[in-house]
Amino acid sequence: MHDEDKDVSRRDFFKTVGVGSIATAVVAGVKDTAAQGPAAIGPDEVPITLTINGQRHQLRVEPRVTLLDAMRTRLDITGQKRVCDRGACGACTVIIEGRTYYSCSMLALEAQGRNIRTVDGLAKGNVLHPVQQAFCDHDGLMCGFCTPGFVMATVALLEKNPNPTPEQAKRALDGNLCRCGTNIGVLKAALSAKGVSRG
Ligand code: FES
Ligand code: FES
Repeated sequence: MHDEDKDVSRRDFFKTVGVGSIATAVVAGVKDTAAQGPAAIGPDEVPITLTINGQRHQLRVEPRVTLLDAMRTRLDITGQKRVCDRGACGACTVIIEGRTYYSCSMLALEAQGRNIRTVDGLAKGNVLHPVQQAFCDHDGLMCGFCTPGFVMATVALLEKNPNPTPEQAKRALDGNLCRCGTNIGVLKAALSAKGVSRG
């Protein structure tokens, strides 16, 4: 995620706000012995509703389950990949209300009531989203594990800034890693994709 106003990169932001929100959620789930404390949730499964790519899904998860695992193992929405599972690689990147998040580092509970977007929802039938097409045109993928995260980070960038400079694109994508070395192709794709409308 890239907060342009404060010039804070996604990785910087995650280190601060992301960890803080997880800590808050975990604390909320711990049995509180104080009379005024938050209500305990879990450890058994609880019902939740997630809105993903415009569709509402009702499911039951333990409070400790991440958004990524809820999508992949409960809902069979497998576009975003589980690679590091610790907020380091960006393969699990989703867009929530215009901002990118590592879905491996967000609890499913936290994502309720928000519009979650994954790579699964980008194409219209057989027609790829302009960013997906640009990745194909510029060889922005090899093994493909990092690709869904890069695609979503690029979509988030171009929805805010349709004509980024190379520096802006690099900064917006600095929370994503590719071990196959496709970064040049990814950057070309991010700079050439056109027709991305505001999400
Ligand atoms: S799998 Fe989430 S950041 Fe690597
Ligand atoms: S294409 Fe293989 S990790 Fe990026």
